[in-house]
Amino acid sequence: MSFFVCKGCGYVAFGRAPEKCPVCGAPQTMFGQNDRLFEESAQNSPEGGGKHTPVVTVNTDCGMIPEKSCTDVLVRVGETLHPMEEKHFISFIDCYVDNEWVSRVQLTSAMYPGVVFHLQSAGKAVTVVEHCSLHGYWKAEASS
Ligand SMILES: [Fe+2]
Repeated sequence: MSFFVCKGCGYVAFGRAPEKCPVCGAPQTMFGQNDRLFEESAQNSPEGGGKHTPVVTVNTDCGMIPEKSCTDVLVRVGETLHPMEEKHFISFIDCYVDNEWVSRVQLTSAMYPGVVFHLQSAGKAVTVVEHCSLHGYWKAEASS
């Protein structure tokens, strides 16, 4: 899988660079390819997986939107809760369905690193990407 990173907002596109960044609107020329993006983070922080790899839970039984068949994607970073401090925090969590970006939650050090995406459909595969201000990019696939 190839990865293309937007230099404007850090968004990661899977497979190809889009004409326009879906998060910040930057043009394709602002994307740089780095197929080892996630491997590099893991190599630079060999002990970091437990604190950074998103823990993803998929629920098809939504309590918030019961009138629709809502799929909840619950994400926390990580199995050992990641710190949220001024200089070391999870800056965003992005959700993808079938390798297409769906939504981003921007985080600050006033929050815990946990979010919920209420999806109309989980497709065949849900992927979650998180970015740590110090330790780079980490991702996980959903397990329902
Ligand atoms: Fe970190």
